[in-house]
Amino acid sequence: MRLAIVEGDGIGKEVIPAAVEVLDALGLDVEKVPVELGYGKWERTGQAITEDDLKVLKGCDCILFGAITTPPDPNYKSVLLTIRKELDMYANIRPIRPLPSVKGILGRSNFNFVIVRENTEGLYSGIEEIGQDISWTKRIITRKGSERIAEYACKLAKSRKSQLVIVHKSNVMKSDKLFLDVCREVAGSKGVEYTDELVDSMAYKLIRSPERYDVIVTTNLFGDILSDMSAALVGSLGLLPSANIGSRHAFFEPVHGSAPDIAGKGIANPIAAILSLRMMLEWYGKMPEAALVEEAVDAALTEGITTPDLGGTYTTKEMTCAVVDYIRRE
Ligand code: NAI
Ligand code: MG
Repeated sequence: MRLAIVEGDGIGKEVIPAAVEVLDALGLDVEKVPVELGYGKWERTGQAITEDDLKVLKGCDCILFGAITTPPDPNYKSVLLTIRKELDMYANIRPIRPLPSVKGILGRSNFNFVIVRENTEGLYSGIEEIGQDISWTKRIITRKGSERIAEYACKLAKSRKSQLVIVHKSNVMKSDKLFLDVCREVAGSKGVEYTDELVDSMAYKLIRSPERYDVIVTTNLFGDILSDMSAALVGSLGLLPSANIGSRHAFFEPVHGSAPDIAGKGIANPIAAILSLRMMLEWYGKMPEAALVEEAVDAALTEGITTPDLGGTYTTKEMTCAVVDYIRRE
């Protein structure tokens, strides 16, 4: 496997090396291709990502990505949106499940759901105009885009409890009527049980009774917001992994950003990045290795090894060491 490794900026430079250490401990035959992208590169060269970088990424089987700091440039085009679009990675998968010995805001551990976020259109279309007195961003919803994300969500739902919730705001935004209708059609044709919720009331219900949900399918911005919110249910943004899946490429990244407030202190939680690696291994068909990584993370947390975001005193390196040691022992 050819794996592009993008550390990016801020804590990306701490949590991706941690995930790579875990990967190395598994002893798999992986060709690692480092790619520099982001704010640091933009400061140095004026470009956060180049055509050549995109070629390198396209030439790899998949990508392990940290996070990128948004440069203070009004003309800056998001690196992440560019990659997701160029590599057509339309499905952003964000599993939300409790981890051992970690308490989220509700102190509960009886939930397990997945947010399936459309990843290439919606309000993140990148089609916008910024003016002195008026600025606008175009929200794009297509039948094709809605169909393929609904199909992905239905397939996932069938492998779980077969309960799909379609999240939208079609009472206000007519563009979401198309998303809702298409999702209903697809779920109906696939025999998946479904309901739908307006996004604002969904945010409320998700925090009140997360155990009621199985698979949530939604548009780009709503999925982004609901997943960060859900991180509080798990306990920290530093625990949530994600996969961006397309027909040819896949890209794995923690849900969090570059966290400039803690960058360089060596205290970032590496679990989100390590669990993103786990999702990558699963995607690549390396099930025993994926299971071992999960076991190692669970074991470290159960031993009480946690970083400050979870109230612990361990550093990124110590946390990673605990996971790596477990893998080496097995
Ligand atoms: P953020 O996700 O970087 O941080 C939000 C809060 O969560 C901060 O208090 C941070 O310290 C904490 N946090 C995040 N990850 C953590 C971890 N692994 N361990 C412990 N604590 C953690 O979001 P923020 O601050 O809004 O954005 C910072 C920069 O990152 C911005 O430039 C933003 O544009 C960018 N960003 C990039 C993303 C990406 O590349 N995928 C995603 C989200 C934001
Ligand atoms: Mg986000």
